[in-house]
Amino acid sequence: MTKLAGVRWGSATAAYQIEGAVTDGGRVPTIWDEFTARPGATTRGDTGAVACGAYDDPEGMLDAIEWLGLETYRFSIAWSRIITGPEGQSNPEGIAYYRRVLQELRDRGVTPVVTLYHWDLPQWLQDRGGWTSLATTDAFVHFANVAARELGDLVNDWITVNEPFCAAFHGHLSGLHAPGIQDEPTALRAALVQLHTHGEAARALRAINPDFRIGLAMNLSDLAPATEHPEDLEAHRRADLVENRLFLYTVLQGRLPADTAAYFGADAVSGAVEGIDVSRIAEPLDFIGINYYEHNVVCAADQGNDLVVRGIEKLPVPEPRSSNGVAVRPDGFTRVLLRVAALAPDLPIWVTENGIGLWDYLGPDGTCNDIERVAFIDQYLDALADAVTQGAKVEAYYFWALMDNFEWSHGYELRYGLFYTDYPSGRLTPKASAQQYRSLIAEERGGGADNARRVGAAA
Ligand code: FCB
Repeated sequence: MTKLAGVRWGSATAAYQIEGAVTDGGRVPTIWDEFTARPGATTRGDTGAVACGAYDDPEGMLDAIEWLGLETYRFSIAWSRIITGPEGQSNPEGIAYYRRVLQELRDRGVTPVVTLYHWDLPQWLQDRGGWTSLATTDAFVHFANVAARELGDLVNDWITVNEPFCAAFHGHLSGLHAPGIQDEPTALRAALVQLHTHGEAARALRAINPDFRIGLAMNLSDLAPATEHPEDLEAHRRADLVENRLFLYTVLQGRLPADTAAYFGADAVSGAVEGIDVSRIAEPLDFIGINYYEHNVVCAADQGNDLVVRGIEKLPVPEPRSSNGVAVRPDGFTRVLLRVAALAPDLPIWVTENGIGLWDYLGPDGTCNDIERVAFIDQYLDALADAVTQGAKVEAYYFWALMDNFEWSHGYELRYGLFYTDYPSGRLTPKASAQQYRSLIAEERGGGADNARRVGAAA
């Protein structure tokens, strides 16, 4: 693994997925509280009301981080715990919770990376137009300022927004995510307002501390056309526009991809950019966060089967695939990283998420032998090494997730954690993949097995 010598090892979570305690500590409702209350919105009607209980008791999470020997931990702070309403009042209890977590991370020698927006928009902002309104940008910049002033002595690395594609297109077109709207021009507007907000917030954070490192996290998918037929190639271009280029190119180049108006229509585009200077979205980044999960093969179809991209069909995922039907394509991971590296050769890449959702269970002996995730880590870190060898400047890797948590519309059914979460007690048990990741980190950090023992002894 020496090819990965420069990579910092981490894992990631997000506030609504782990904290629970949604009515405690002065937290105000978010779009996910509202959305999960709708019948049928999530598997089994699951909600984040309890989740992993990390708000009431973050110790288990912190011990898990230390046990793994993580160098860095990515988590999000809940806007709804920091700012309590339109007047912009900040909430000392919410701030105190995150200060406690950050102080504990510092004491344990772990560098935090804080995501400011991981999908939990306060409901009072949704009621005023949510991500279609530039008032949301102003409110976010205020939140970012408060977070930076109150926590900036303990945090140097910030992610403005997480996966604007999902928040825009699953939140406002497929309706699979909060706020559950289904309207394409609204989705495009929500994408642009989030990107604009990213740029504004990045500038605001820099004004507070020029040494902050600032990026955003975008999910990019590896897409292949089913055939070389011109219609399939066109379908592939459209899918790539909506899922990848709209975000990647706009953030790096400060202009919309040339085919945006052809696909969405001129009216939708002019509505989406109203009041926004697109060139200012390309505020220079200190790093780009890439979340990688998906490989898909697409072809043209009149009645497409994709909920987000019109006129395309996503073919059944080819073998090899995981037991829950997701393509196991580490080569796609390498391609995505090299694509980013080709566009922005000097920009550090942080893999801010990568992982696999499985139906894990504890065996009779109380352990979780997640062999698919173990194989996944081997294969995807090899793929990461391939990308590094070919020139991708990867500085950090965050496995999603530290522990099983509330997986949005899938509720608690799908488990992504290195640690198995017993709901609702919140008890965490390291899976086989956690043992493996821990050994790998110990080896990469230079101490080999001895270091793994030392990390274990300290836990
Ligand atoms: C990503 C999200 C993250 C988690 C993983 C599995 O799209 O950013 O919160 O749900 O997928």
